Amino acid sequence: MFPPIDLRSDTVTRPTPAMRAAMASAEVGDDVFGEDPSVLRLEERVAHYFGKEAAVFVPSGTMSNQIAVRIHTQLGDELLCDLNCHIFQYEAGGPAALSGVTCRTFPGDDGILDLSQLEGQIHPDNLHLTATRLVCLENTHNRGGGKVYPLELIAAISRWARANKLAMHLDGARLWNAIVATGIAGPAWAQHFDTVSVCFSKGLGAPVGSALVGPVDLIRKARRVRKLFGGGMRQAGILAAGALYALENHVDRLADDHANAQILAAAIRQCPALKLTPDDVQTNLLWFRIDPAVGSSAELTARLEERQIRMVALGSHTVRACTHLDINEAQVRHAAATLIEVMKSFPLSSHEPRLPLSDHG
Ligand SMILES: Cc1ncc(COP(=O)(O)O)c(C=O)c1O
Repeated sequence: MFPPIDLRSDTVTRPTPAMRAAMASAEVGDDVFGEDPSVLRLEERVAHYFGKEAAVFVPSGTMSNQIAVRIHTQLGDELLCDLNCHIFQYEAGGPAALSGVTCRTFPGDDGILDLSQLEGQIHPDNLHLTATRLVCLENTHNRGGGKVYPLELIAAISRWARANKLAMHLDGARLWNAIVATGIAGPAWAQHFDTVSVCFSKGLGAPVGSALVGPVDLIRKARRVRKLFGGGMRQAGILAAGALYALENHVDRLADDHANAQILAAAIRQCPALKLTPDDVQTNLLWFRIDPAVGSSAELTARLEERQIRMVALGSHTVRACTHLDINEAQVRHAAATLIEVMKSFPLSSHEPRLPLSDHG
């Protein structure tokens, strides 16, 4: 029996032997004292990679985003974001719980907000209202099916935000995927934001770690908030060495994950009862719906699991699959063929879809 082909997330990867070797031999010190050479090296490299002055290494993307919310805002402020963004949907109410901040959400097009949705939305200075302080964008967009944010839209939102004294934060957990998919380098994206959060533990395949990059004064504040949130780590160089290895060796290969995602996308398009949402798969994430007349996401993922293929049900009829470092082309081809076969085991699955399958519910 082969081990399962796990397409649930790009966070399921295990460190490669070379990454483990880099971690095992990492120089370390106490990072809360600012003395861990591997952490310092990683922070310097990642800041430079994005053309920013400084960076702080943190345990998770969630902490990185929530530190950003905290340093840009005060109690009673609000941030503006897409309805389906990670900061609002999947961070356990962090802005409210950790910063006393309200999220005002707007329905993006696969997670992509247009400037026209934000214009006119800044609250006037009125003691009844939250103070609008921050705009948060996500690139690539997870719930948006791995969509790449068009750079010109980001630039327009950023110009508007800066003209109105709003801060800009990017949840760039998968910004690496956008960089590889477009060929647009880190600084061209990062210049439009005050802070950018990036993750080493997703497509890059490191076991742990994210970084928040930005100007020196904000990153100094971020270090204080990292301590407050319990993220001050000691000999964190062991983790930073994995992240550094990932940064140096695993960025360009994301192109393979994107090519593999196209193989799976083609299989999904062949199944009349499945619909990609969005159809345009740009990076390593595939979100799709199963026709409710045919079956549920739980039934589909259970039948796939019986065949050693793992995908994740993220809604009653919504499934996500994700290509990554631990999945090669042969495994993706096998998963694609299995999905087509499994769909044939649903009684109505060869029919045309009966209901519109366009929403992400
Ligand atoms: C877009 C996005 N942002 C942030 C995160 C949070 O990262 P972490 O799981 O490291 O907290 C995730 C996690 O999947 C994500 O997809």
